[in-house]
Amino acid sequence: MPKRRSFERVRDSSAINLAIGQPSDDLMPRDLLGAGAKRFFESQQSGTLNYGAPSGELEFRTALADFLSTEDGHEVNPDTLFLTGGSSQGLDLICAQFTQPGDTVLVESASYFLAFQIFQDHGLKIVGVSTDHEGLCIDELEQAIVQHQAKLIYTIPSYGNPTGMTLSANRRDAIVALSKRHQIIVAADEAYQQLHFAAAPPPSFGSRADLGQVIVLGTFSKILAPGLRVGWLQLGQTLREQLLDTGWINSGGAINHFGAMITREVLVSGAMVQHLGQLREALNRRAESMDAALHDCLGPQAQWHRPAGGYFFWVGLAHSANTQDTLPSAVRAGTGYLPGNICAASGGFDHYLRLSFAAYDCQQITEGIKRLGRVLAS
Ligand SMILES: Cc1ncc(COP(=O)(O)O)c(C=O)c1O
Repeated sequence: MPKRRSFERVRDSSAINLAIGQPSDDLMPRDLLGAGAKRFFESQQSGTLNYGAPSGELEFRTALADFLSTEDGHEVNPDTLFLTGGSSQGLDLICAQFTQPGDTVLVESASYFLAFQIFQDHGLKIVGVSTDHEGLCIDELEQAIVQHQAKLIYTIPSYGNPTGMTLSANRRDAIVALSKRHQIIVAADEAYQQLHFAAAPPPSFGSRADLGQVIVLGTFSKILAPGLRVGWLQLGQTLREQLLDTGWINSGGAINHFGAMITREVLVSGAMVQHLGQLREALNRRAESMDAALHDCLGPQAQWHRPAGGYFFWVGLAHSANTQDTLPSAVRAGTGYLPGNICAASGGFDHYLRLSFAAYDCQQITEGIKRLGRVLAS
């Protein structure tokens, strides 16, 4: 699997690159963050600019626990939370602490392509497991655990990247049971858990009283601002203790204490709930525009499900076009997408493409899909 440098992209301002899975500027609440930073600096409490407590300050974890309890509808204990520099850093930490080079990680057959690189950084072998409309296929998952003596399962349970699909409640239960039976760590990357457009997805893995071997990864990148680099892990006491043994934490304290304290100010101000409501509505409108434009411009040439949350459409082309081959024409036409095979853990998905509706407004999305429709028609 080739390594990618995703931030080296040149942004042509006239291009509508639907490969970009990042929020547009107007989705990030500068005013809330600015006000939070002002309150933080005005607070005059001693020690706030010093190193932070290893797993994140209790004030931050309490505010986060309150937020998660309200959002996900279950009581979250602040002592199960561990501050990270975002999901990616959390995943890197899990790999560093709980795997060895040569171990196998099992992932959804189409998954977050940049997580693959984190696994490669740790010398892990990546094996894809099939999914259906309920998510990971449990029998195949268990066979793969045994066959590869796998050490880690990585799943994106809600509104997955790239598929937009959600793991059913039953399958979530089955995965927890498997993790206990085989003593395998499950990294549940819930980056999009809070971004539902209507009904909420099945409860977070973190809603379980006994988290067992499951580690939930959460992030403020998708619901506040990626540049903050603030996220969290939710995990049981034994695993949490193991993370605290990490050298860089003992040397430098919690990662991104400062960003976490600004985030805390936003959480305790109560403004986050309203912001999240507006964000969901904006993303829903964009998903609606993308769905309508796909119907108008790709129609019978393609198949897709309108996602019920998150950032992405996963589009399968009816003819056997290889989306890697058609990408240069799309770029010349002033648009772009992520070719499916980049997201493939064990090959395939050559005629799929991932489209993000987070980085552009409704009009731009419609125009981008028109351009794409013309390219694919020719
Ligand atoms: C599934 C998933 N996990 C993690 C990330 C990155 O998250 P963070 O910015 O918190 O590192 C992304 C961003 O696209 C994602 O889609």
